Amino acid sequence: MIRESIITTLSKAGEVHIAPMGVIWRDDMPVLAPFRPSRTLDNLREHPVAVISHTEDVRVFAGCLTGRRDWPVKPASVVRGVVLEGAHFHQEVEVDAVEEDATRPRFRCRVVHEALHGPFRGFNRAQAAVIEAAILVSRLELLPMEKIEREMDYLRIAVEKTAGPREQEAWGWLATRVAEFRAEKGR
Ligand SMILES: Cc1cc2nc3c(=O)[nH]c(=O)nc-3n(C[C@H](O)[C@H](O)[C@H](O)COP(=O)(O)O)c2cc1C
Repeated sequence: MIRESIITTLSKAGEVHIAPMGVIWRDDMPVLAPFRPSRTLDNLREHPVAVISHTEDVRVFAGCLTGRRDWPVKPASVVRGVVLEGAHFHQEVEVDAVEEDATRPRFRCRVVHEALHGPFRGFNRAQAAVIEAAILVSRLELLPMEKIEREMDYLRIAVEKTAGPREQEAWGWLATRVAEFRAEKGR
């Protein structure tokens, strides 16, 4: 089971880094799998602790992929780390072991604290569509442009039918990024 979450890590110097990441859940054990190279990977090696924040504000996912990483955070309760403000649930984790891998090492973690801050308000198709579009944007260099445009066209239907203002804003950032990428590549 993979849950798309917001991962906050700290460098050795204490600088905060925020990144969307799919957390692999092996029963109750979260596994973080950052690709090489990435800031999250470096931070987990320097300071083997992370906070997993669960939010329905999909602007954080879209924002991190489009250069908007400055989201408000507050100190974690147990680990030296930070929690995303507005998260409805968060989990503080420590790294127990690392499975080394040439492209994507896996950090097996242990939850040392978790806290609920607000209710689950139900599924929204536009939120799911924004997360899918954010994944497409994270793979702009890897996927064919036709596939990206075809999938964006499909995902746009859910956004047009079901989005609120936050989902519309997030979608706008991602659609602009795809258009800019297309213009840069002259395709
Ligand atoms: C929903 C979602 C899930 C993602 N999951 C992962 C992941 O599991 N591992 C990873 O390395 N990047 C993942 N990414 C891409 C990272 O968020 C992005 O590349 C990020 O910049 C990681 O690099 P950084 O730590 O240097 O910021 C995901 C992106 C999205 C939108």
